[in-house]
Amino acid sequence: MPSLSEETNGRIETLMPGATIGIIGGGQLGRMMALSARYHGFRIGVLDPTPDCPVAQVADFQVTADYDDKAAIRELAERSDVLTYEFENVDADAIDEVRGSVAVPQGTDLLRVTQDRVFEKRFINDHGTQTALWRQVDDLDGLDNAIKEIGYPAVLKTRRGGYDGHGQVVVRGPEDLAKVHERDRLGTFPPSVLEGFVDFAFEASILISGNGKDFVTFPIVRNEHRHNILHLTIAPAQVSDGIAEEAKALALRLAKGFQLAGTLAIELFITKDGRVVVNELAPRPHNSGHYTIEACSIDQFDAHIRGIAGWPLPQPKLLGPAVMANVLGQHVSSTRKLIAVHPEWYVHDYGKAEVRQDRKMGHITVLTDDTQRTVDELEATGCWDDLRQ
Ligand SMILES: Nc1ncnc2c1ncn2[C@@H]1O[C@H](COP(=O)(O)OP(=O)(O)O)[C@@H](O)[C@H]1O
Ligand SMILES: [Mg+2]
Repeated sequence: MPSLSEETNGRIETLMPGATIGIIGGGQLGRMMALSARYHGFRIGVLDPTPDCPVAQVADFQVTADYDDKAAIRELAERSDVLTYEFENVDADAIDEVRGSVAVPQGTDLLRVTQDRVFEKRFINDHGTQTALWRQVDDLDGLDNAIKEIGYPAVLKTRRGGYDGHGQVVVRGPEDLAKVHERDRLGTFPPSVLEGFVDFAFEASILISGNGKDFVTFPIVRNEHRHNILHLTIAPAQVSDGIAEEAKALALRLAKGFQLAGTLAIELFITKDGRVVVNELAPRPHNSGHYTIEACSIDQFDAHIRGIAGWPLPQPKLLGPAVMANVLGQHVSSTRKLIAVHPEWYVHDYGKAEVRQDRKMGHITVLTDDTQRTVDELEATGCWDDLRQ
């Protein structure tokens, strides 16, 4: 039996083709990781409650159970050489419990920090990096005190479990504050954080990947959201050299702090006076990095797989500008018509059986030499016309 991994000095072993990567979470991020793992010669297992989920369609085996089912995590660990995850809300303790039988190159500190907004902001600030002004808020009295310090407008977010704007309330003035009081008078107030509202010029993100020792960054990109869900990514962002350098420098500070293995996404606000403020982190490939599949010399999923396999990482190069548009449930039928009209557009479909409003079903990437013209072309198709209020 050939050795599937080689011991190295660091905590990361070098994984060889033929080894099995177990992915917790069976959605589109896991699927694109798995496709990348496949061509590197790895085998793939997935833990997900939905049979024939997007990852299972391209994996060797599925453990069909909830993400926090400890027996299922143990089974996945026993059948894998390395564990990774496609989302941050997995049970870090359960992963620690199986570390005797499987390598977890990303560690669990990264998970514990990024699944709690207070830990995350503290980590970011401790690594010399700006966030919005923030205060931990444990109850309604704490909220009133935090508002006095931060002022209006502010954003109240739950510490754990939020995504795509869920678990958030914008507090614009005393009326909104009264609404939060009303809503939470009878219920239990979830552990939260209050942030000052950042009057940003635009939102951006940067990806960084590591193998525990060395780190490489992707270019800074611009993101446009609709209803708090990513709509478009424009690569690269049109920013000054100073902003691009600061984004790269802060990404390196954070990656070193985590001894990062795999890919980390950093969501940014670029302020009108040119400051780079970190919004939040995702310890995994990110929706705003899907453009890298066609537009970069190495993509965010390859970099994730190489990183957790302990392989050296090449510096990603942007081969040319690109625009990525998300296909949500309400866009599926109209965007399918684009397949015939635009053979030069890269159409991705995640293989999800159930179509629902706002569910991420796929994306389209367009390589271009004029990103604004391409954004106009995408919008002119009418496929993304918003029917919601
Ligand atoms: N402090 C803030 N100031 C201004 N806008 C914000 C702030 N926090 C969040 N937002 C807006 O809400 C969106 C979702 O917030 P985010 O913290 O990224 O949560 P999620 O986990 O839901 O992605 C952001 O992309 C941004 O558009
Ligand atoms: Mg976000």
